[in-house]
Amino acid sequence: MMVFDFTGKKAIVVGGGSGIGKAIALQLADNGADVWIGDLSENGAQTTVSEMRRYKGDYGHTVTDVAKKTDVAALFADAKKQFGEINIVVNSAGVFMPKGLLEAAPEEIKAHLDINLMGIIYGCQLALETMIAQGKGGKIVNISSVGGRGGELKSPYYALGKGAVLNWTQSVAYNGAPHGINCNAICPGIIRTPMWDVILEADGGGDPSVDKEALFHQIVKGRAPLGRAQTAEEMAYAAAFFCSGYADAILGQALNVDGGDRMN
Ligand SMILES: NC(=O)c1ccc[n+]([C@@H]2O[C@H](COP(=O)([O-])OP(=O)(O)OC[C@H]3O[C@@H](n4cnc5c(N)ncnc54)[C@H](O)[C@@H]3O)[C@@H](O)[C@H]2O)c1
Repeated sequence: MMVFDFTGKKAIVVGGGSGIGKAIALQLADNGADVWIGDLSENGAQTTVSEMRRYKGDYGHTVTDVAKKTDVAALFADAKKQFGEINIVVNSAGVFMPKGLLEAAPEEIKAHLDINLMGIIYGCQLALETMIAQGKGGKIVNISSVGGRGGELKSPYYALGKGAVLNWTQSVAYNGAPHGINCNAICPGIIRTPMWDVILEADGGGDPSVDKEALFHQIVKGRAPLGRAQTAEEMAYAAAFFCSGYADAILGQALNVDGGDRMN
């Protein structure tokens, strides 16, 4: 169903092989965009591409590890070769890190930030470079988290990376603005994607007898005033808005889509 009109727009969705990124890719495709997926999971990327084929655009994927700038550059090269230009870039690839502040080894912290922070940095650098050279403006959306809105007791390194993404989004917005490029961020609340398998495993203390879905509902009830989890599609509506002409005057913002968990 066309709500926004992305006809003729060419998009890259990094992390589009699952969860929020997949919902964003489908939303952009449903609204007329051609979409290229970059994801570490070839199976995930291929599944999203095959689901997008119900629409009438051009779709493809590149297996990408966002922790490697050479991989992100190859993703952009593939998409540019196929599409000719890139108008929209969404950076959604990410992982959770449940380790406590004194539990994580230096190499674990670095490996985590290589994905959740450096991955976003590379995606934005390539997006800016590409869009500035094209001279037609563009839209960049980074997926942060409500966990990036402040420090966290149990997941400080996840909070660190996501918080840095919010700061970085503003710097990208400053650099893109003179070229008509908007960069904004979304802070999702709680969405039952595969990422939550890791969180529930940690919150359940690794005990296989813990009912993970019951635990999930308990966590949701204790958090959002709305009283329910959010959906990946609800994140996709916000992303599509940021990618649309209706958001041309919005720069460097971070939008909580979290059922009212954080009202700042
Ligand atoms: N699900 C939530 O409740 C929630 C809440 C706040 C923020 N987020 C953020 O939303 C984003 C998407 O998460 P999700 O919930 O859809 O999780 P998900 O696990 O469903 O999807 C994450 C995707 O990123 C990909 N990925 C992981 N590491 C990668 C790498 N090194 N290179 C390329 N791709 C890689 C995975 O293959 C997967 O397709 C993440 O940045 C996450 O931190 C999620």
